[in-house]
Amino acid sequence: MNPLKALGGTSDILPEEARAWQQLEHQARRVFHLYGYQEIRTPLIEEAAVFTSSLGEAAEIVTKQMYFLEDRGGRGGRSAALRPEGTASVVRALIEHGLDRTAGLCRFYYLGPMFRAERPQKGRRRQFHQIGVEVFGSASPHQDVELLLLLKRLLEEWGLNGWKLRINSLGCREDRAKIVEHLRAALAPQAAKLCEDCRVRLEKNPLRILDCKEERCRELSGGMDLFEGVCAACKENFAKVTEGLERAQVPFERDPRLVRGLDYYSRTCFEVVHPGLGSQDALGGGGRYDDLVELLGGAPTPAIGFAVGLERVLMALESAGPKPPEAAALPVYVATVTAAELPNALQLAEQLRRGGIACFANLEERPLGRQMKQASSLGARFALILGPDEVKEGNVTVKEMQSGEQKKESIADAIRRVSDGG
Ligand code: HAM
Repeated sequence: MNPLKALGGTSDILPEEARAWQQLEHQARRVFHLYGYQEIRTPLIEEAAVFTSSLGEAAEIVTKQMYFLEDRGGRGGRSAALRPEGTASVVRALIEHGLDRTAGLCRFYYLGPMFRAERPQKGRRRQFHQIGVEVFGSASPHQDVELLLLLKRLLEEWGLNGWKLRINSLGCREDRAKIVEHLRAALAPQAAKLCEDCRVRLEKNPLRILDCKEERCRELSGGMDLFEGVCAACKENFAKVTEGLERAQVPFERDPRLVRGLDYYSRTCFEVVHPGLGSQDALGGGGRYDDLVELLGGAPTPAIGFAVGLERVLMALESAGPKPPEAAALPVYVATVTAAELPNALQLAEQLRRGGIACFANLEERPLGRQMKQASSLGARFALILGPDEVKEGNVTVKEMQSGEQKKESIADAIRRVSDGG
């Protein structure tokens, strides 16, 4: 049998990398707490309709990238899907549990894996991880500004520099319908010159022609300014958002061609790009989706959110240079001189852990020299050595690993010293 390997486009996060992930998650939770967001965890699989109805039957994320599953547990032939994103699931949960009535502040954050059947390449994975937020119940442009301030704060907390925020307004539902018609009429005579994908898009989702990767498609739609088709109320709303961003000193660029890949957006939409990412340069994106809750069967509820791709955040951080070395995960190593002290080592280790000190205890019968080698390779700062004498006296020998200096001390003094780190 060939050796088994992780599927292409998925990967193991090994302990070394997992530390960086935990740090990103920890920092994000801290920022979300400051802004009054609460965590929500939704299932990794949902009824497929949750996504097909929200993201758009014709959206590529549905037609090309969604993993449909046979729901063997059996809900009468309904198909299930692996979640390709988080927003639709959060909206489904909001409606199902009446969270808009019971949750107080309707501000949620989530983190976890998402699945898209992409051809794997740099920055494009089949299983990737998002951290995202969703806010329900506010149509205020000040909410848009606050959400983007939160995004900026998050990127700063992670230590990311050099990113750019691009922002646009897609107008309201009525504006979108008009813009789509206008685009379709203007591009129909040129249909033959469009790429194969865009010929389908012309029929099903002409907005996406504006951000096609093919240069000729972009050129054909080049002269079109989406914003011209946006109504006066939406234009005024967008002006308040951009003024608010200026006042709050959130740097941004207006990008009249930014349309985003999902159908549920209206009014403000945005993307954050980073130069260290290559061709898949979006760190994250989001926008308003004021019609989605109603579309999925809830009461009309304005909403806005964003999601950031964690693999891409790590890539952007790595592109900025090597990370400073981290403190040892296990600062203390408890060693034994003979097998007789093994139970004492276990006991001392528990005492240290109760005091909040992470440690590794030798539990094998083996020479002290080998234990010291292991202590060094674990990066321990101190070794606490128990021999027959120490056990008899109620002491322990404290060895400072770097200098090699060692001193016999009472257990209480030794614990105090290693917990002070000096
Ligand atoms: P999205 O733009 O589809 O938006 O995805 C957000 C981010 O997820 C992207 O900018 C990227 O960093 C990451 N991402 C997406 N696909 C992949 C992939 N195949 N491999 C690696 N990373 C990927 C959404 O998902 C919306 N739900 C965002 C949102 C929340 N809008 C409103 N609320």
